[in-house]
Amino acid sequence: MIDPGGPQELQQASDDVDSAPDGMVKTGSTEPIVNIAGTLVALGPLRRDLLPLYLRWINDFTAGRNLGHVRAYTAEQETAWYDDFVKTDRDTMFTIYEHHSGRPIGTAGLHRVDHRNRTAEFGIIVGEASARGRGYGTETARLVLDYAFLGLGLHSVYLRVFEFNKAGQRAYTKAGYREFGRRRQCQFMGGRLWDVIYMECLATEFSSPVLEKLLAPELDSTEGGTEART
Ligand SMILES: CC(C)(COP(=O)(O)OP(=O)(O)OC[C@H]1O[C@@H](n2cnc3c(N)ncnc32)[C@H](O)[C@@H]1OP(=O)(O)O)[C@@H](O)C(=O)NCCC(=O)NCCS
Repeated sequence: MIDPGGPQELQQASDDVDSAPDGMVKTGSTEPIVNIAGTLVALGPLRRDLLPLYLRWINDFTAGRNLGHVRAYTAEQETAWYDDFVKTDRDTMFTIYEHHSGRPIGTAGLHRVDHRNRTAEFGIIVGEASARGRGYGTETARLVLDYAFLGLGLHSVYLRVFEFNKAGQRAYTKAGYREFGRRRQCQFMGGRLWDVIYMECLATEFSSPVLEKLLAPELDSTEGGTEART
């Protein structure tokens, strides 16, 4: 596990979560693992102990309508999904933590990772409604692009966002995505049909906020530069 230079607040907050009174989330661990620490959010692995939280988020129709699945998910379905997820590297997902408090606020990641063509699809849910509209989705989108390009060596990441999801479109644009097409009137929601907007970002158009520095091998001066880096 790479120490991301770890946010102390996260560790503190997690300890608080462990001693949380009934009704609050008890994570059962003392320190959340963080892979990538940004300014507003930090990303770490999905966690089995957070399945009740993930289940609550995915059952929130105000979030689900933006994802295209307005369904009542059961704990069994969520557990089956998680058991499948941990067995495959087709999807790479993170828990999103609010940096200053350490509370888990959502999940995000890459789906259908294709290493041959170096592509993937981005997905996100800021599940805690109180955490939306604070810049967390924007930074998360940027950090996941950073991971896609610098961590996995992918070249092209795309996403689908519904025409009515203005916050998503704005957040993704700020993170580095650009619209490249639309599938018209193919999403039924709230009594009418909406377009699905396709957005993409290429590695060559992206400037790494965190990982370029974090993943750079530390060479001593005798090793020289160019040759050792190829
Ligand atoms: C969509 C989502 C990921 C965005 O993340 P977020 O943390 O809420 O968004 P951010 O605060 O980073 O950015 C939202 C931007 O949209 C803007 N915005 C919000 N509502 C808007 C609207 N109705 N019209 C135009 N812009 C809007 C905000 O002002 C902000 O832009 P700004 O920083 O320039 O002011 C998050 O809200 C979410 O997960 N929602 C529920 C599930 C979902 O939609 N998942 C994604 C499916 S594609």
